[in-house]
Amino acid sequence: MEDDKYTTELNVAVRAVHMACLLCQKVQKGLLSSTFVDQFKSKDDSSPVTVADWSVQATISWILSETFGCDNVSIVAEEDVQTLSKPESANLLEVVVKTVNECLNEAPRFGLKCPAQALGSTQILEAISRCNSAGGPFGKHWVLDPVDGTVGFLRGSQYAVALALINNSKVVIGVLGCPNYPIKNDWLVKNQPPCQATPELSLTNPGMWEEGCILYTRRGSGEAWMQPLLHGNKKLIWPNSAKLVRVSSIEDPELATFCEPVEQANTNHAFTAGLAHNVGLRKKPLRVHSMVKYAAIARGDAEIFMKFARAGYKEKIWDHAAGVLLVQEAGGVVTDAGGRALDFSKGIYLEGLDRGIIACCGAKLHEKIIGSVYASWDSSNL
Ligand SMILES: *[C@@H]1O[C@H](CO)[C@@H](O)[C@H](O)[C@H]1NC(C)=O
Ligand SMILES: *[C@@H]1O[C@H](CO)[C@@H](O)[C@H](O)[C@H]1NC(C)=O
Repeated sequence: MEDDKYTTELNVAVRAVHMACLLCQKVQKGLLSSTFVDQFKSKDDSSPVTVADWSVQATISWILSETFGCDNVSIVAEEDVQTLSKPESANLLEVVVKTVNECLNEAPRFGLKCPAQALGSTQILEAISRCNSAGGPFGKHWVLDPVDGTVGFLRGSQYAVALALINNSKVVIGVLGCPNYPIKNDWLVKNQPPCQATPELSLTNPGMWEEGCILYTRRGSGEAWMQPLLHGNKKLIWPNSAKLVRVSSIEDPELATFCEPVEQANTNHAFTAGLAHNVGLRKKPLRVHSMVKYAAIARGDAEIFMKFARAGYKEKIWDHAAGVLLVQEAGGVVTDAGGRALDFSKGIYLEGLDRGIIACCGAKLHEKIIGSVYASWDSSNL
């Protein structure tokens, strides 16, 4: 039974991602109050996200290694350890060490073990460098994007912590921590005043940004779950507080909302606009930073996610693995623009991807879009 598989893995992954989300919120609070930036005297605007990136990777790597044994975990992740090991990164490393230890101290609240004593910089660097697996078709590989959606993180908008497990080329567990995606969708602003050309997913009240959630699923379960993020010093009671989520049942393109990346650099807005028109989508696209787009489809907050990267850009597995499984298990369909399943067996890239990625709440809508890709493609100059 697929149902009985990966129980321990899912259990640990949800807890580790939960801790990572709180870590990110903490770093972001520092970011918003700006004292954090002074703290390590950097003039680089992107430093806070750098701290969050490294710290999450170190934390999750340490937890997985502790649980499954260093020799037994293969982790494919975005960051490599070179930059952080350089002498000029000493300040950054110091902040990362502090951030990771503060986070791991909280582990017992989440039902996990914390280190017997504070980790030193060598141990932290070791944990980060353990995430250097190249993945591939065989065996089990964890796939991690520590902070997906850098721009969203820096703007206090949407970002995600994404962890997936692949076994023999198949994504078997998907966990998506969405620290700024509130559990209640009426806290979201989806339609902004007409002066704003394209709506972007944001919060009705920025003060609610801590009310995030974690979505998780297991292959073959036909279920996707949502767990609210903890506040204060509460203990995690899981899975009792989780609830089932499901994709939207909308099939009529006129009623469907489609999501796409916020930044033009990540997708071709003009092409998707043309495609949307051909399919009969009438609503303006909802622009969302990060893999939260997949969460929005899985939860039924939107019906379609389309992404067409510029020619030559290769999609990486950590940007999709967790989100794709969530949408599928919540009842949706995800393929490339040619209608084929995404191939997670070729190492860090989604090799052989046909033009773009299309995630949909249901098969009917999905077919319509795939059918329109060809027509739209010919008339575009991508
Ligand atoms: C690796 O996994 C095997 C089987 O689950 C276990 O017996 C072994 O102790 C693990 N290795 C480490 C270093 O934990
Ligand atoms: C991984 O996949 C292989 C082949 O599909 C299967 O035989 C094996 O049981 C899977 N491993 C686990 C832990 O489920």
